[in-house]
Amino acid sequence: MVFWKKLFSNSDTAITSETTGVSGEILNPNSQSIAQPQISFSTERDLDIYELEELCDRVGWARRPVRKVKKAINHSFLVVSMWEVQGKKRRLIGFARATSDHAFNATIWDVVVDPNFQGRGLGKAMMKYMISQLRSEDISNITLFADPQVVTFYQRLGFILDPEGIKGMFWYPD
Ligand SMILES: CC(C)(COP(=O)(O)OP(=O)(O)OC[C@H]1O[C@@H](n2cnc3c(N)ncnc32)[C@H](O)[C@@H]1OP(=O)(O)O)[C@@H](O)C(=O)NCCC(=O)NCCS
Repeated sequence: MVFWKKLFSNSDTAITSETTGVSGEILNPNSQSIAQPQISFSTERDLDIYELEELCDRVGWARRPVRKVKKAINHSFLVVSMWEVQGKKRRLIGFARATSDHAFNATIWDVVVDPNFQGRGLGKAMMKYMISQLRSEDISNITLFADPQVVTFYQRLGFILDPEGIKGMFWYPD
């Protein structure tokens, strides 16, 4: 488990300030109480699928068959989860996963932050964590499919819309 230090400080340093396995600063940097909730990131795959489904419900996503969600997670290259940790309790507040050819390319899917935690820079931090993990595997081409209302969110992270005119194309069964 990785705790994100410097939650409210320079977001550009958020990734470099993460420390594997070490408890970081508390969510509210003005308080020194260890009882305060902390935000942590993890790449563990052994998630409670029903907790994930509840998170997805909270942003209004359509339910998907649990069996297929489990399969998708098991076959993903990287699974990132974000947790609110308070004492021994933790709550899933964010999720994203990436598929990959393990060499050149990765595609990010299912990016979600609990609505109660949105607008605090946590989605950005989770995406930076995901990108740093992919870069540490020497993946250089990271792609995703953005819903129209979140294009700006991804652009702020450095994603480019239609680079050199390239268009994402989809095929659906009739
Ligand atoms: C999209 C989502 C992950 C963003 O998470 P978040 O924690 O609210 O985002 P952050 O607070 O980290 O925002 C980071 C930056 O993106 C901007 N941003 C966040 N959501 C945005 C949106 N919907 N549209 C445009 N910009 C957005 C913020 O203003 C902020 O800008 P800044 O860096 O200039 O301050 C979250 O809103 C979410 O889970 N939405 C529902 C699920 C969804 O749509 N997922 C994406 C599917 S492609």
